[in-house]
Amino acid sequence: MSNNHPVSVVAIDGPSASGKSTVSKRVAQELKFTYVDSGSLYRGMTWKALRDGVEIGRPDQVIELMNRMKLEFYTENRVVLFTMDGEDPGQQIRSEPVRENVADIAAIPEVRVFMVDRLREMVRFGDIVMEGRDIGTVVFPESPFKYYLDADPEERARRRSLELKSMEGVDDVGKVLDSLARRDRKDSTRKTAPLQIALGARVINSTSMTIEEVVALITAEVRAALGQ
Ligand code: DC
Repeated sequence: MSNNHPVSVVAIDGPSASGKSTVSKRVAQELKFTYVDSGSLYRGMTWKALRDGVEIGRPDQVIELMNRMKLEFYTENRVVLFTMDGEDPGQQIRSEPVRENVADIAAIPEVRVFMVDRLREMVRFGDIVMEGRDIGTVVFPESPFKYYLDADPEERARRRSLELKSMEGVDDVGKVLDSLARRDRKDSTRKTAPLQIALGARVINSTSMTIEEVVALITAEVRAALGQ
């Protein structure tokens, strides 16, 4: 995407608990861009498969369900949300069964092709901040605003356990951290679009940075490039 393209895309990738979601939401608010959480689509597909009794280990069935379901997008307060066959999964996409199965769903090449197409269509909502694992590498590689957020593993584990302790229904933080590590391993080693640093992406290690510092760094760069 060239600088004079009417729509700007800020691509933010990184592993779980790297601070990506908080940073991406805040960057979008600051810039008045629309926020897209690409992971919510893979989670939504997982929720839908579980809900409709489709076996996660049967990619053919998952693909069949994906192709026949009605997926609709809308925005609320500059956040992209969606319904699947008319139903909004809401917070159910954060539930344990979804958490445990999403990396397998996200590893199905056909699912990725389908979701990447949907994600590219998001520019119809205008300027966007999109977070995920392959936004800078696959979805919008030509965007001039590509970031890879990272933090040391201990810091990521600490952040995630703080987050989990504040969530209802999570009593075994150690177990969830193990599951997080398993998911990260799957996301980084899968054949299609593994988590990687995009060419030209700016790597930000936020271990010793505050959220505000990371947000300020990204927004300043985008604003400067857009001549704001
Ligand atoms: O960011 P998250 O935890 O909500 O992501 C959920 C899962 O989806 C995770 O296993 C990584 C995967 N994912 C992906 O493969 N590609 C993306 N662009 C976003 C998420």
